Amino acid sequence: MWQNLLDWIEYRIPMMRVAKMHAIEYPAPKNMNFWYVFGFLATIVLVNQIVTGIWLTMSFEPSAERAFASVEYIMREVEYGYILRYMHSTGASAFFIVVYLHMFRGMIYGSYQKPRELIWLFGMFIYLALMAEAFMGYVLPWGQMSYWGAQVIVSLFGAIPVIGEDLVIWIQGDYVISGATLNRFFALHVIALPLVLVILVFLHIVALHEVGSNNPDGVEVKRKKGSLKEEEKTKFKMHEYYTNKYDIVDDVVPFFPHIVLKDLVAFAVFLLGFCYILFFKPEMGGYFLEAPNFEIANPLKTPEHIFPVWYFTPFYAILKAIPDKLFGVIAMFLAIIMLALLPWVDRGKVRSWRYRCGLHKVNLLVFAAVFVFLGYLGGTPQAGWKVLASQIATIMYFAFFVLLWMYSKNENTKPLPERITK
Ligand code: HEM
Repeated sequence: MWQNLLDWIEYRIPMMRVAKMHAIEYPAPKNMNFWYVFGFLATIVLVNQIVTGIWLTMSFEPSAERAFASVEYIMREVEYGYILRYMHSTGASAFFIVVYLHMFRGMIYGSYQKPRELIWLFGMFIYLALMAEAFMGYVLPWGQMSYWGAQVIVSLFGAIPVIGEDLVIWIQGDYVISGATLNRFFALHVIALPLVLVILVFLHIVALHEVGSNNPDGVEVKRKKGSLKEEEKTKFKMHEYYTNKYDIVDDVVPFFPHIVLKDLVAFAVFLLGFCYILFFKPEMGGYFLEAPNFEIANPLKTPEHIFPVWYFTPFYAILKAIPDKLFGVIAMFLAIIMLALLPWVDRGKVRSWRYRCGLHKVNLLVFAAVFVFLGYLGGTPQAGWKVLASQIATIMYFAFFVLLWMYSKNENTKPLPERITK
């Protein structure tokens, strides 16, 4: 009877066919390592944010008068409300930790290179949407940092010549950050941006499954018996794999159970860390929830220092490093645009850093260190040596791309293996 029901459904909608193609039998390179778990973890965190967000919305009141109190109500009165709230706030930081590691994986293994440019671009749009989502979510509890953080970020648009000032009023829906702003941020945070995120993640996976996953060696997996011709490697399309055009595949393993099991181990470790923070350090020493946000928003009292949450601080440091507001804003956006342009900035023919020149490895590691250092600088008051340090770090951030563009054209690479190595 069960089989009959499945057959009845399958005849009308390709449920099992899609599940087999994109999950169960998806041919994953068998050398996928630790770095390949973060896409799965990002998906889990996305689900966590949506589910806990729905429950929070049931008790949250999006008005300047009631927002702060309704969050306190969730924390104290709603059954398990404090867990829901901390799952959501910890999830926001976990999202960025996982996504930053996921992006770095793409950089070390050259996953953005041909033919995976669109996967990377969809990823960058996801990243932008995620930043907007996190920013607006942070405004909702209507604490001091919510209010003043929104004030600082929205006023950046005022630096745009000619239209800047009108644009700020249009975004705010008022002459100042007010209940009207809170209301629209709520609408965008709970429906518009999550919808955009889910659609983008869907497209990200569709693009990935069209060309197949890259792997730590950065060489295309062998998918057809006895043939490894160059044109066949790049012309491969995933759907042809399922139409039996490519019959034997010895460099790949089915996604289920091989990769699923690896992902589950990662999930267990992730859950340990996540629960530790959730139950023992939900504010994470002021990094995940900042102290001034436990005070209700007061438009008449500016907090001593205004910092964004840790995941924005690298870009905030770049913004602050440049004395001119407009050029600071331009540099900040350029920092993100440069990341999006990586597939074209990197002119190398070899993908993985395993087979690229020594300079590339140094360049990547220095870039990661500079990013973390900028994050540190952006989260502390800019005074004394830190002013110069953030200017130097900003130059080093952009130098990564300039250097990459220069040396990748005629790079001294190591010989690539014919097949993936492990
Ligand atoms: C909500 C956020 C995201 C989700 C849920 C997500 C999901 C995934 C999943 C499930 C995979 C396949 C498994 C894996 O390779 O880890 C993947 C691959 C990939 N993602 Fe993401 N992703 C997200 C954000 C990003 C961002 C921000 C970027 C970069 C800008 C990015 C770039 C890539 C690339 C290049 C691949 C292919 C990697 C390879 O085959 O080597 N993703 N993503």
